[in-house]
Amino acid sequence: MALEAWYMEESSEDKKQFVPLRKLEELGVLSWKLNPKNYENDEELRNIRESRGYNYMDILDISPEKLENYEEKVKNFYTEHIHANEEIRYCLEGSGYFDVRDKEDRWVRIWIKEGDMIVLPSGIYHRLALDTGNYLKLMRLFVEEPVWTPFNRPQEEHPARKAYVSSLVPLEAH
Ligand code: LAC
Ligand code: NI
Repeated sequence: MALEAWYMEESSEDKKQFVPLRKLEELGVLSWKLNPKNYENDEELRNIRESRGYNYMDILDISPEKLENYEEKVKNFYTEHIHANEEIRYCLEGSGYFDVRDKEDRWVRIWIKEGDMIVLPSGIYHRLALDTGNYLKLMRLFVEEPVWTPFNRPQEEHPARKAYVSSLVPLEAH
């Protein structure tokens, strides 16, 4: 199934308002559905990595047993931030939420599950949360040497933030 995303703020009728992939693409968010069982031998993954230059890769297990300083890290993941580079994550097991801000500064919650690969552009405000399954195994990809430094909001003067904001197609008049 395609990636599900919705506005966190509920509409007046308390109904989930879904956000189509096209809207995520307008924010610069890219995604693919891959076969997580075959990540060591997946030609599709290899092609994406080659075409986008993702030569670095590691695997992050987000669980209290497997992640050192679990509490602190999970808290930091959930603190709204940007990076100077793309954030590229491929969900191998478990599930969780990537929240990103849209053009109107609303939170869009993206539910990633096994097989979902997602790229958040540099400069986009985002955060990561586990869901009730409480487990995520993520492949992290990067171009060259990885830098994971988060810059917590506000970052309006950060060059990556400025570049991101100016890359966005302005909102249509309502
Ligand atoms: C990160 C995610 C949690 O920066 O946004 O690793
Ligand atoms: Ni991040």
